Amino acid sequence: MPDLVPVLRKDEIQRIVGEMGQKISSDYQGRELILIGILNGAFIFLSDLIRQLTIPVKVDFIRAASYGSDTSTSGKIQLTKGIEIDIRDKDVMVVEDIVDTGLTLNHILDYVKSLGPHSVRVCALLDKTERRQTSIALDYAGFKVPEGFLVGYGLDYAEDYRNLPAIYHLQP
Ligand code: IMP
Repeated sequence: MPDLVPVLRKDEIQRIVGEMGQKISSDYQGRELILIGILNGAFIFLSDLIRQLTIPVKVDFIRAASYGSDTSTSGKIQLTKGIEIDIRDKDVMVVEDIVDTGLTLNHILDYVKSLGPHSVRVCALLDKTERRQTSIALDYAGFKVPEGFLVGYGLDYAEDYRNLPAIYHLQP
């Protein structure tokens, strides 16, 4: 069995998600925001984040597949579910659990921008910068985390551990 080493406690996650929600609500005051969650990993972060927002929101999801049971990106990203609501001329926020190489996000941003939104920003709970291969800027980032594979709070390893309320480093 792999070891789980604590990285972020439940209360630390809740505090930062609250702060991110306040900042986003203030930046988008008087506007409606469409949040696009990246499945599967972002579903827990997104569901906590939207309950911290005081502006009108709509929610949709994209499903991107790149990781199998491996711990590094294949670089080949496949969209297996696209956006179903109309985002043309809307303010859009792509919500990601963790950005590692940035390849997934790059691919997704190209797709989202091709649908003609008024604006697109990115919000990620975890920013793992060491292996970044793209120059994308995260507009809202929760925690900067060191290299290593993390699980819990929606993050999985081979679909396990998503339900853990805190975030752990998976030690092989
Ligand atoms: P990237 O394309 O390398 O930036 O990888 C982004 C995607 O890989 C995220 O949406 C996650 O699904 C997954 N991922 C990256 N790092 C981790 C991790 O430490 N734990 C779990 N999933 C991860």
